Amino acid sequence: MSFLHTPILRVFNIVKRFPGVTALNGVSLELYQGEVHVLLGENGSGKSTLAKVISGIYLPDSGSIEVAGRQVVFSSPADAIRYGIYYIPQTPSLVESLTVTENVLLALRSYSLLAGVGRVREVVREVASKLGTRVDPDTKVSELSYTQRQTVELAKAVLLGARILIVDEVTTYLPRVVREFFYNYVRQVREGGGSVILITHKISEAVEVADRITILRVGTVVRTLERGEFNVELIRKLMFGNRVTSSTVEQPGGPTPGGGGEEVARLENAWARDDSGNLALRGVTLSIMRGEVLGVVGIAGNGQRELAEVLVGLRGLVRGRYYLRGADVTNRGTGTVRAAGVGFIPEAPLYYIFSGDLSLVENVAIASRWGPVIRWDSLASRVRKLVDTYGISAASPRAPVKTLSGGNIMRLAVARELELSRNMLVAYNATRSLDEAFSEYFLNAVRDLAQRGTAVVYISESVDEVLAVSNRVAVISSGRIVGLFDREGVNRDTVERLMVM
Ligand SMILES: Nc1ncnc2c1ncn2[C@@H]1O[C@H](COP(=O)(O)OP(=O)(O)O)[C@@H](O)[C@H]1O
Ligand SMILES: [Mg+2]
Repeated sequence: MSFLHTPILRVFNIVKRFPGVTALNGVSLELYQGEVHVLLGENGSGKSTLAKVISGIYLPDSGSIEVAGRQVVFSSPADAIRYGIYYIPQTPSLVESLTVTENVLLALRSYSLLAGVGRVREVVREVASKLGTRVDPDTKVSELSYTQRQTVELAKAVLLGARILIVDEVTTYLPRVVREFFYNYVRQVREGGGSVILITHKISEAVEVADRITILRVGTVVRTLERGEFNVELIRKLMFGNRVTSSTVEQPGGPTPGGGGEEVARLENAWARDDSGNLALRGVTLSIMRGEVLGVVGIAGNGQRELAEVLVGLRGLVRGRYYLRGADVTNRGTGTVRAAGVGFIPEAPLYYIFSGDLSLVENVAIASRWGPVIRWDSLASRVRKLVDTYGISAASPRAPVKTLSGGNIMRLAVARELELSRNMLVAYNATRSLDEAFSEYFLNAVRDLAQRGTAVVYISESVDEVLAVSNRVAVISSGRIVGLFDREGVNRDTVERLMVM
């Protein structure tokens, strides 16, 4: 790659404000042809906002954009696509009820582009095979996994003729095996003369794929590093400043149960269906003890989501029983379960536990239906305390929760739910959108909670995390528990082998 040429894309001094927040405060960046440029920064640092400005979703308040040396103004994504810029969001924007082919054709048509059905099928299959997956072009999107959905997005990018691909935290959600394929895909785009802006908050990922890394911190570029300059310590320092991070965190390892083996929850031969009506849990039997962290690990889509939903009462059983502290709560609903002191920290709090249009204060208040009684007058100050303690960045405690960045929403979820978890906490892919520093904090908080006697079910796709945090480890595959071990009695290899069974 040569930097002697004119950059293919140049953004200069971009400012973008939202009510109460300056998301981008004079950001400049250059992207060269054939470059994988990683945008790295903590949650809320402005990465997605910058991506959306570049791809015509947001109009900046000031600043300029040049493509191949020519100044451009994008007032819609269609404008950006005309210059070959395509943005792949964290959450794929597809129509659930349409097939893959229909979705792609629809997208093309909305940009006044046409492609034959045959060509669409071909590209979908081709991209899928590059990602090590399969996508039937005639399946409804509602039946696709996350990986398959992002395959469709990438196929759209190909058909739209994208030469600058902006990928927003997509890899965070991909299973590890797929992630490797994805990196290869990105490298192929580069070999083909395309350019990629890859957004992530994970340092390890940035170092693995980037030609250059630009680090953002609260809306400003801290520095752009060339490949020869990368090193994790330097990057960490640039990302977090002098804020103490990992050094305050204990090493992972043997937490000891603080309880005394009293059973808090028990699933007996639990069977449940997923949203499409297929059996997702097939005879799960599990006891969760006071004071322990029970890790549940598996490859995405093996019943974890349904297990989490069953444990918090959001999903019923078609067979089997669910007991909480000895009481039969089978199919009694989430109100009953939550009132029994069960907290829930899911990967998508806006979907599961928050109301996006309500404020932080109101969202904490609605939880009082399940938690200890809250006095309204003290609520605002309590929320302010949560905001401080958990480092939540929000315009105000009265701001609607949906205006927070994904990472800040997660922090609020952690803040609220830890307090509600008097008897049990169910964590489901909770660290997916947390940055490294807060993830570590969270893992410690989970261990602490267990030490104080709460039962924790820690559901995650990350073997590392589960091994680091759990007292016992359950492996889930095709809706069945295929292995259950004491932490000391199991190693990574065994777990990974069982995961693919
Ligand atoms: N649509 C929006 N309305 C109001 N504030 C927003 C909006 N989008 C982002 N923000 C705020 O802008 C800042 C940067 O957010 P974002 O670009 O999403 O960060 P990142 O992608 O790095 O996590 C955050 O403080 C966030 O709360
Ligand atoms: Mg983002």
